[in-house]
Amino acid sequence: MGNRSETSPASAALTLRNVTKRFDGASGQVTALEDITLDVREGEFLAVVGPSGCGKSTLLSLLAGLEHTNEGEIKLGDQPVEAPGRDRLVMFQQDALFPWLNVLENVLFGLRLKPDLTEAERLESARYYLNLVGLGSKEKARPHELSGGMRQRVALARSLAPNPRVLLMDEPFSALDALTREQLYGDLQEIFTKRKKTIVLVTHNIREAVCLGDRVVLFSPNPGRVQQVFDVNLPRPRRLNDPALANLAAEVTSALSPRLAR
Ligand SMILES: Nc1ncnc2c1ncn2[C@@H]1O[C@H](COP(=O)(O)OP(=O)(O)OP(=O)(O)O)[C@@H](O)[C@H]1O
Ligand SMILES: [Mg+2]
Repeated sequence: MGNRSETSPASAALTLRNVTKRFDGASGQVTALEDITLDVREGEFLAVVGPSGCGKSTLLSLLAGLEHTNEGEIKLGDQPVEAPGRDRLVMFQQDALFPWLNVLENVLFGLRLKPDLTEAERLESARYYLNLVGLGSKEKARPHELSGGMRQRVALARSLAPNPRVLLMDEPFSALDALTREQLYGDLQEIFTKRKKTIVLVTHNIREAVCLGDRVVLFSPNPGRVQQVFDVNLPRPRRLNDPALANLAAEVTSALSPRLAR
């Protein structure tokens, strides 16, 4: 446990240094993020939690290069992040699939920007990830024939298949029921263990963050700042009902909202 949000540059995939982001809204200027200094290590699963409006989605937009900082600097490796790039892929809360494409075609769509792959390699990769999320037998189905959880699993396969260096996930599971969600936590941990990659997940679900993250970064709101960083030293695969996980989640919750602490 601690507040170590900086690591040596060599092991960092993403570095944020003193990042401030302001928006000019209808009711004046809002500081969404203030003085954020944080590293995401290569191959790390970083979970970011905090109350609504603390700047979690803004953080992902900055990392994706969809928005620009007002102050401070973001780097991917040693390159400044200035625009979207194929090395970073964002998966949103309700990641829409194309209704006119079947499951396999939807996943293949994510691979269209991989000119270095042959058609056969794309097909192999799409099928590999569909199998990983347990939908190998559904490749011909259209999205409307699937449950919401299955659709979200297709979206997950579509995000993973291009094998981006960094995967940025914005509350990808919040629309799902508890059982489907836990199943996806299992899928994602398995995928993460098999194919170590750098993931930043933002969520307001603290148990989800502790279940998935190597570290959990807690943001405080108005303006969004790093309040505390928690190391999650629990073996994988983790289960939500593991008492050690529940204890750590309670610790994060009480840091977030001391009133909720027992
Ligand atoms: N494009 C924008 N224009 C103006 N203000 C914005 C814009 N995007 C975000 N904000 C403001 O920045 C702050 C942070 O918003 P953000 O969406 O990053 O929060 P969040 O932590 O993702 O919240 P939630 O948990 O509700 O998704 C809020 O005050 C929001 O109103
Ligand atoms: Mg958000």
